[in-house]
Amino acid sequence: MKVLLAGGAGYIGSHTAVELLQAGHQVVVIDDYSNSCPESLKRVKKITGKDIKIYEADIKRKDAIRRVFGENQIDCIIHFAGLKAVGESIKEPIRYYRNNIDTTLTLLECMRGFGVKNIVFSSSATVYGEKCTMPCLETFGRGNCTNPYGWTKYMIEQILEDTAKAHPDISVVLLRYFNPVGAHASGLIGEDPQGIPNNLMPYVTQVAVGKREKLTVFGGDYATPDGTCRRDFIHVMDLANAHLKAIEYAANHKGVEIFNVGTGKPYSVLEIIKTFEAANGVKVNYEIGPRRDGDLPEVWADAGKAARLLGWQAHFNLADMCRDAWCWQSKNPQGYGKH
Ligand code: NAD
Ligand code: WQD
Repeated sequence: MKVLLAGGAGYIGSHTAVELLQAGHQVVVIDDYSNSCPESLKRVKKITGKDIKIYEADIKRKDAIRRVFGENQIDCIIHFAGLKAVGESIKEPIRYYRNNIDTTLTLLECMRGFGVKNIVFSSSATVYGEKCTMPCLETFGRGNCTNPYGWTKYMIEQILEDTAKAHPDISVVLLRYFNPVGAHASGLIGEDPQGIPNNLMPYVTQVAVGKREKLTVFGGDYATPDGTCRRDFIHVMDLANAHLKAIEYAANHKGVEIFNVGTGKPYSVLEIIKTFEAANGVKVNYEIGPRRDGDLPEVWADAGKAARLLGWQAHFNLADMCRDAWCWQSKNPQGYGKH
C-alpha cells in the first residue's frame, strides 16, 4: 500500500515509517517540522535502506495538501499530525484547537476529494477522562477530558465517526495510545522533546545522561501500591506494529473501529526508575515532590480487542523499553541536534 503519514517525522510517525517500510509498504510523509526535524526521516532511510517521499508543509493549508494527494495515489492515511503537550494546551487552547482540528478537516476533505477510503488516527487514552474505571475498555464512553489537548482528541474522534456515518464507503480506525516510550533498537531514532520534557521517560533519560539534575516524582501519596502513579507504558515499536495491523484492518473493513494500544499492565513511576537503573546500570537521581495537577492515580488498558480483531499484542517488556530509551539518549545526548 502507499501510506501517507501526516506528521510522520515525529516520534511515533518515524518509528511507524520504519515498520511500514520493512513490511514492504511505500511511505509518503507530510510534516511542517513544528515539533520535529528532517534528520529523523534521514535516519529512517538509513535503518531501512528504503526511500520516502517527503513534503514539508503545514497540513492546515489545503492547497499544499491537495498537491500531495494529486501527486500520489494514497491508499491509506495515518494521521499523527498534532500538538500534544497537555500543559501548553491549557495555556494556548486556541492554537491547539486550530491545529489539531484543522489538520484533520484538511485531510478529510482531501480524502473525500481524491477518493481515499482509509484513515487511521492517533487518538489517546486521555479521551476516557477522569471518571473512567480501570482497565479502560473501548466500549466506555469518552468525555470528562481534563485539558484542551484531550478535548481535541475527543472532538476529532467525533468528527471521524460522523464522517464515516455519512460516507459508508470509508474506513476509520481510532488507535487510543496509552503511554508510548522507548526507541528503535538501533538507537538511531527516538523521542526528541524540545525544551524541558513533559513526559516521564524522556525526563528520566535526560537525568541519567546528565542533562538535568534531578527527576521530581509527582506525588508519593497516591492510593497505589507504592504511592506513585501507575501507567500503561508501551514500547514505541510495539505501537508502530499496531499501525501496520491497523492499515491492513482498515483496508478490509468499513465504518469505525476503536482500539486501545497498551500492554494491559500498569507500572508505577518508582518501578520505572528502578527498572531503568537495573536495565542500564545507571543512576537516576530523583526526589518525591508534590502531585501534578490533572494526574490520575492509575491508567491502564484492556488490550483484548486489539488482540482479537487486529491480531496485535505487545512483545516488549518494561526492561526493553528502558534499555532502548537509554540506547537512543546515550547515543544522542542532544537528540537530533537543533530543531
Ligand atoms: P510528535 O510531536 O513527535 O509528532 C507529531 C508530528 O506532527 C511532528 O513531527 C510535527 O512537526 C507534526 N505536525 C504538527 N502539526 C502539524 C501541521 N499543522 N502540519 C504538519 N505537520 C504537523 O508527537 P508524537 O509523540 O509522535 O505523537 C503523534 C500523535 O500521537 C499526536 O497526534 C499525538 O497527540 C498522539 N499521541 C501521542 C502520545 C504520546 O505520548 N507521544 C500519546 C497519545 C497520542
Ligand atoms: C506519567 C507519570 C506523572 C514527569 C501524558 C498525556 C496523555 C498521553 C501520554 C498524549 C505520571 C509522572 C512525569 C515527571 C513524574 N499523551 N511524572 N515526573 O501524564 O500519563 O500522559 O502523555 O496523548 O494524554 O496526558 O504521561 O509521561 O507525563 O506521566 O513523576 O517529571 O509520570 O505524574 O504519573 P501521562 P507522563
